[in-house]
Amino acid sequence: MFSAPRGVPDYIPPTSAAFVHVRSTLTRAAELAGYGYVELPVFEDTALFARGVGESTDVVSKEMYTFLDRGDRSITLRPEGTAGVMRAVIEHSLDRGQLPVKLYYAGQFFRAEAPQAGRYRQFHQVGIEAIGVDDPALDAEVIAVGDAGFRALGLTGYRLEITSLGDSNCRPAYRELLQAFLAKLPLDEATRQRAELNPLRVLDDKRPEVRALVADAPLMVDHLCDACREHYELVKAYLTELGVKFVENPRMVRGLDYYTKTTFEFVHDGLGAQSGIGGGGRYDGLMAQLGGQELSGVGFGLGVDRALLAAQAEGVLPEFSRVDVIGVPLGEAARARLVAIAGELRAAGVRTDLVYGGKSMKAGFKVADRSGARVALVLGERDLESGQIGIKTLATGEQVSVALTDVVEAVRKAL
Ligand code: HAM
Repeated sequence: MFSAPRGVPDYIPPTSAAFVHVRSTLTRAAELAGYGYVELPVFEDTALFARGVGESTDVVSKEMYTFLDRGDRSITLRPEGTAGVMRAVIEHSLDRGQLPVKLYYAGQFFRAEAPQAGRYRQFHQVGIEAIGVDDPALDAEVIAVGDAGFRALGLTGYRLEITSLGDSNCRPAYRELLQAFLAKLPLDEATRQRAELNPLRVLDDKRPEVRALVADAPLMVDHLCDACREHYELVKAYLTELGVKFVENPRMVRGLDYYTKTTFEFVHDGLGAQSGIGGGGRYDGLMAQLGGQELSGVGFGLGVDRALLAAQAEGVLPEFSRVDVIGVPLGEAARARLVAIAGELRAAGVRTDLVYGGKSMKAGFKVADRSGARVALVLGERDLESGQIGIKTLATGEQVSVALTDVVEAVRKAL
């Protein structure tokens, strides 16, 4: 017997309907803000991610699904969406047209992480990217779109954390300041190495003893250059204007190297360790890094799997059914007629199923009851002779007879 690869979820009915609902609710929020859909490959040149996401990140150094294809090219299953979008924008010269370029995507991403609740090796994101205009109002728009998506799902048990990571102008000096501070602390060897490679990550260490040590560490937000500070203040002002609530978390660390200035995360309280339901930020150096123009960008990735878990935890998902109407034929001639009626109903946009397999009346109604349909069409030999059909409301058991010729109209009214 086969089973799905470790850490890879299947979504089967009825959960799959909830999954689709979550994904389309999030993409709808992007569409409402004028983002256009982009469909990109799930694998790319390995170098795109190495260069775009950053060699020193866990994502690139430990978690990529990388293999040689039949032409001995190094290929990687996409661990995130931003690098691929930038590659496509450059390749198709979208950056030479109207700016900002506003794109959204939805699909699978792959990271070889240790599987646990809410952390998968294949997961799904809905993401947006707004490229080519360095305007703090655009940062606020991106954040507000994510917030609107989660609100539209009915989620309330999350908070939005934001901060600024500075830019190439002010971050290097801050980094040195932080490294000098960390060098004086009695850190273990692994943490000391991390402080060399990526000092910001030490600020996010979850161990209480390290937390205590770095409690007085200098913070980026206190060392922003004037331009970054002004940008950050305006983003916060626009968020307030938009009615989006946020908290500042100056110790936020994102797992990808390309971020500059505004960064943010949506954190849900009901999910345990994997609490990040979405995150993003500005990445002003990425396009040039990938061989394109010096253009800015800002975007997010929302975790569809985790948003689904959050919606389940909060109990905010509606009931989903796969059909509205189910035909229960009693006898061969009735079956032939119901097959035809089912075709007409589907053509009229009504989701219609039939009881198959020549079941008895009792067994047929059992199937109808379990189908999730609201209405059953009941047709027997005698009804056929009299030109009538029964329309039964399954929740109440109430049944009325209508003329066979009027069935489509009558069903539409009954729904
Ligand atoms: P990220 O924070 O790495 O950002 O991922 C975004 C979201 O994807 C996370 O908040 C989480 O909900 C979900 N996610 C990540 N890894 C997993 C996993 N192993 N299992 C389940 N869900 C997961 C990015 O990927 C950036 N590309 C976002 C972005 C777009 N920044 C700018 N533009």
